[in-house]
Amino acid sequence: MGEREALPIIIKGLKRLEYRGYDSAGVALLDKEGLSIYKKKGKVSELENHLAKFGDLGSKIGIGHTRWATHGEPNDVNAHPHYSSNEKFAMIHNGIIENYDVLKTDLIKKGYEFRSETDSEVFIKFIEDVYVNNYCSLEEAVRLALHKVVGAYAIVIMNLEEPDTLIAARKGSPLVIGVGEDEYFLASDATPIIEYTNQVVYLDDYEIAVIRNNKLQIKTIENVETNPYINQLEMELEAIEKGGYEHFMLKEINEQPRSIADCMRGRLDAKNGRLVLGGLRDYLNKFQNAERIIITACGTSWHAGLVAEYLFEEFARIPVEVEYASEFRYRNPVISEKDFVIAISQSGETADTLAAIELAKSKGATIFGVCNVVGSSIARATHAGSYTHAGPEIGVASTKAFTAQISVLAMMALKLGYQRGTISEARYMHLLAELETIPSKVERALKLNDKIKEIAWEYKDSRNFLYLGRGYNFPVALEGALKLKEISYIHAEGYPAAEMKHGPIALIDQEMPVVFIATKDSSYEKVVSNIQEVKARKGRIIAVVTEGDTTVKHMADHTIEIPETEEAFVPLLSVIPLQQLSYHIAVMRGCNVDQPRNLAKSVTVE
Ligand code: G6P
Repeated sequence: MGEREALPIIIKGLKRLEYRGYDSAGVALLDKEGLSIYKKKGKVSELENHLAKFGDLGSKIGIGHTRWATHGEPNDVNAHPHYSSNEKFAMIHNGIIENYDVLKTDLIKKGYEFRSETDSEVFIKFIEDVYVNNYCSLEEAVRLALHKVVGAYAIVIMNLEEPDTLIAARKGSPLVIGVGEDEYFLASDATPIIEYTNQVVYLDDYEIAVIRNNKLQIKTIENVETNPYINQLEMELEAIEKGGYEHFMLKEINEQPRSIADCMRGRLDAKNGRLVLGGLRDYLNKFQNAERIIITACGTSWHAGLVAEYLFEEFARIPVEVEYASEFRYRNPVISEKDFVIAISQSGETADTLAAIELAKSKGATIFGVCNVVGSSIARATHAGSYTHAGPEIGVASTKAFTAQISVLAMMALKLGYQRGTISEARYMHLLAELETIPSKVERALKLNDKIKEIAWEYKDSRNFLYLGRGYNFPVALEGALKLKEISYIHAEGYPAAEMKHGPIALIDQEMPVVFIATKDSSYEKVVSNIQEVKARKGRIIAVVTEGDTTVKHMADHTIEIPETEEAFVPLLSVIPLQQLSYHIAVMRGCNVDQPRNLAKSVTVE
């Protein structure tokens, strides 16, 4: 809100935020008709076409939403914003209201009617009910209502009767307020804000922000006023634009030499044997003396966690457990103050990871975050952490965040190993020097793009894929399979190569492409035997090998040669061709690579 036309800013902002969810989109404006809501199933572009029918919709204030459906199918009615019954309030909501059923039953008894199947409509009507019954201001009604609502939310409400006011609140779902000159912007993350201002306030859980007459006031839900802390954003606008690439995913794949270098910049100085991770400084002692490291994450970040398990155990000799955050949080896990918990998350907003952190914290463990998004909820919920500095990742399928996560985790493992004396000085120095060469080796690996495109063409119509690897390459096999299924909708499974004979081998015939990650490492010979087993059953073999390999070349249908490196750093290179393969197959199949169906970049619900 401010002096400018709100609609173009909202539409542009929704497009920037579309990667977070794209089932439907909508806006509420104070136009000549009053408080009007326009919404449409599908992408923001569908909403734009719909809005074009209405001519001038002048409004200096407005709210908009792009949805990832939780309650109720993606359609026009379930799209946000939602009205109150009297149509004086309009609200957008991210998150899930867990007690919506109880609230809804109660409201129905009182005569409220519902148009949609969403928990969000229940939410605004519940606020309306509190407002009506307490004869109070909307701000007060929001505050009172939030005491009764169970679940996660980031909300923004407009009120027909207060045309100069926006009320926002959060718990569990992110909300950023951009502070411009005489104007304010609210969003789930900073991407739609940075072109207008680099000054932002991150709203905290249980805080309510009221922007009235171009003044921002923040209070807790206990009605205690807090001083908004203004952060300076360091993000550049180019970082969130495609920059000439056809898709964000392709841009992000190609950015990896730089993003990995950015992640190591100022931290790794191989010549002088220095490794500085600022976030770790105060917790190094705890980390060093931890009895166990527990890593918790979801999706691709969980795969980075699996790589880290090998890294920490090899270099620091501390036992590691890697946990899906969603399982960990509901398992009554055994955790103590002696555990060091690492939470990995690109977005820093994944609800399950956040909940796992809270659980581990309540048991006294030290929590260290490895996040990409600066100022995100996970970054703030952890005791300390290291940012991955990969820059904004917009493509829903994670690529550069994965390699940056592994880079941070590798630096942590080396630091820890050195401190604990579990790796020798010479080995430490050698590993640091090798790590420093990774960005240029990734650059070389990226040059295989044309060859991978040819392979993609040959296999684009396959119905299944198997990805096999051992040791450090086992998590890479999982990640390769995940990339393919996410964006091309081809069924793919990742397996430890040796496990193939305990089941997946039954699937192998001439129709089954099998991607082997068979780099020259300690399990190379064994993987070669696995390749032979697949070949004997006429499976089609695509092998990622180390440059100069001749053995596998004679056995495989296709080989992709990546530069040689230390075994522990191979995932940083071997994942690159797998990202490219899935990208090209998805493009050839006509899939929406950046916004695959049913997925969202940031999963802020359980
Ligand atoms: C979603 C995304 C994945 C991501 C996962 C975990 O499923 O689509 O790409 O790996 O969430 O997200 P996080 O932000 O915690 O790394």
